[in-house]
Amino acid sequence: MIEIQNVSKRYPTGIQANSNISFTVEPGEIVALVGPNGSGKTTLMQQILGVLKIGEGKILIDGKENNMRNIAYIPQSPAVYPALTVRESLLATTKYLGVPKKEAVKRIESVLERTGLSGNAQQPTYTLSGGQKKLLSFGCMLVQDATNLVMDEVTSMVDVVTKERIWQLILEEQKKGCAILLSSHDISEVKKLCTRLVVLKRGSVIFSGTPQEVHNEYCRFTIHVDDAARTQAILDESDCSYNNEDDEFSIVTQDIIQMLDLLHALTKSVAICSLNCEHPAFYDGLLSMLKKKEEV
Ligand SMILES: Nc1ncnc2c1ncn2[C@@H]1O[C@H](COP(=O)(O)OP(=O)(O)OP(=O)(O)O)[C@@H](O)[C@H]1O
Ligand SMILES: [Mg+2]
Repeated sequence: MIEIQNVSKRYPTGIQANSNISFTVEPGEIVALVGPNGSGKTTLMQQILGVLKIGEGKILIDGKENNMRNIAYIPQSPAVYPALTVRESLLATTKYLGVPKKEAVKRIESVLERTGLSGNAQQPTYTLSGGQKKLLSFGCMLVQDATNLVMDEVTSMVDVVTKERIWQLILEEQKKGCAILLSSHDISEVKKLCTRLVVLKRGSVIFSGTPQEVHNEYCRFTIHVDDAARTQAILDESDCSYNNEDDEFSIVTQDIIQMLDLLHALTKSVAICSLNCEHPAFYDGLLSMLKKKEEV
């Protein structure tokens, strides 16, 4: 379990990277840390890991301060030793932690297989692609067998298939009962994985709750119609926002009532050939929350 209690950090340069942050990541939970560039996500993660001095407040891992035995981390930029091979990198991680040889070999084989890096085991890490380095970094976190995991933009740089694999592995760690904190700019990743999210803005928490609580009003729906010009005219008269790409209209309404009224108005004049609807619209809710707080 990771407990963050009233944590604040000011860099010697005077930048206040975060202020009075409090939240908990329970075993079996995936908490997403979301926020614009420079909002303080990496700083907080480095404070949790003890890489940075905490500053004000307290951070407890499994109920204790300065307890780094059972926490593993994947950094935002993959950190690999260029001269080592993939297998040697995993071995170095287990050696650093004092894992007995037999146990280490077992863990390394399992991680190579789970990450799909078995074919790269003998490859020096300086020859790996960007995505492969990220995957190895992920492997170095897994091989520690910790039950508290901190992941800083774990799927940036990786292709969609690798992303799916990493998501699967994260869900497997969650099933084992790990407490997982991950930062991400990928809204679909946050929606797919997290049980709760904490939204940071200029170092402060502006929202903490479940994805369902982000916004329960916005609707996004997509339609194909037989008369794009007429549809556009009707949408222009309403106060919804919309995009039209190749006669596919993506429309955002304030709530479900407005969506139904609009659909009703449209069906009087045009034929709707296909309709896809998302309610609540997680992406639009999150975006509106970040924009709204900026105006304050
Ligand atoms: N070592 C440092 N010294 C001084 N300021 C720093 C240092 N590291 C980060 N900062 C500043 O602290 C703030 C928070 O940075 P941080 O890296 O935590 O943001 P982030 O949310 O992880 O951003 P991103 O999404 O771009 O990774 C930024 O204004 C950044 O410029
Ligand atoms: Mg960062």
